[in-house]
Amino acid sequence: MDLTTNYLGLTLRNPVMPGASPLVDDLDNVRRLEDSGAAAIVMHSLFEEQITHDQLAEFAHTEHPAESFSEATSYFPRMEDYALGADRYLERIAEIKRMVGIPVIASLNGISPGGWTSHARLIEEAGADALELNVYYVASDPDEPGTAVESRTLEILLAVRQAISIPVAVKLSPFFSSPGHFAKQLDRAGASGVVIFNRFYQPDIDIEELAASHRLDLSNSTELRLRLRWAAILHGHLRSSIAVSGGVHTVEDIIKAVMCGADVVQVVSSLLKYGPSHIGTLIKGLTQWMEEHDYTSISQMRGSMSLRNCPDPSVFERANYLRVLQLWKL
Ligand SMILES: Cc1cc2nc3c(=O)[nH]c(=O)nc-3n(C[C@H](O)[C@H](O)[C@H](O)COP(=O)(O)O)c2cc1C
Repeated sequence: MDLTTNYLGLTLRNPVMPGASPLVDDLDNVRRLEDSGAAAIVMHSLFEEQITHDQLAEFAHTEHPAESFSEATSYFPRMEDYALGADRYLERIAEIKRMVGIPVIASLNGISPGGWTSHARLIEEAGADALELNVYYVASDPDEPGTAVESRTLEILLAVRQAISIPVAVKLSPFFSSPGHFAKQLDRAGASGVVIFNRFYQPDIDIEELAASHRLDLSNSTELRLRLRWAAILHGHLRSSIAVSGGVHTVEDIIKAVMCGADVVQVVSSLLKYGPSHIGTLIKGLTQWMEEHDYTSISQMRGSMSLRNCPDPSVFERANYLRVLQLWKL
């Protein structure tokens, strides 16, 4: 069975990898992931706030010890709470690279154009094979037009592209008016891949305490459907690779994502639930399913249910919305 796939110009042994999460903070987990068959290691993010904090701290140390932190900094977790500081992050890339034979994809996470993007070069120098750029932005200012959000993201991508020569994937939000058009713009600006999608964590409200509550719920397979639609729409329109992230829990989820056009899937919630060896169970199940259904390779399956190839493309479009509403019976 030929499970190989190409992602960001890298040839991978199969299409299943852990997504960005603290799972790889533990080197034993990294080893287990590789032994279980993971196609690559995706590291958790190094955040703009961590980098600028380090830069600020240096500045504060030499210039203004007392008043270096704006109030806004207090909205972010304390820097000590991040698993690794900026320097440790770079060391960790090098450690993981020494340890594994599979590609290592680092992740840089931020929202504003600026000096922090030059950290991409340090990440490349530390040995990362590729970089995932996550622009996790919540457009909370109703006066800011969507075009401004798009241009800023493109500007960040261009700055990172200029700093490094390893491939860059952009982890996208589903909240663009036309995600397909924006993905094409990223493609033209030099992204080697798009990761669809960021999973936005929704705050809840405590009505007794009148407080916002922060809870991180793990995903389930129903969240995959949003990704399936957009993988199916994007397949065949991009030079960039497509990674599906969000709601991949089972063998069937992987098959669906590949059939819709994914080059790879990223798995987080189900690995946090069942542990790193779950990736081996998924790969074994994928191989078995493909054998039983007479597939010989991943490439044979990829995109077979995309918008272009699907026997009923209307399922991905407005027509299906009308049909589904009409089918509802009380
Ligand atoms: C505990 C936790 C930490 C995460 N950390 C990051 C991160 O550092 N960077 C990032 O891009 N995504 C991060 N994610 C998001 C995941 O990479 C992934 O996109 C999301 O969990 C959806 O995939 P899933 O449905 O398989 O969980 C994190 C998710 C979890 C649950």
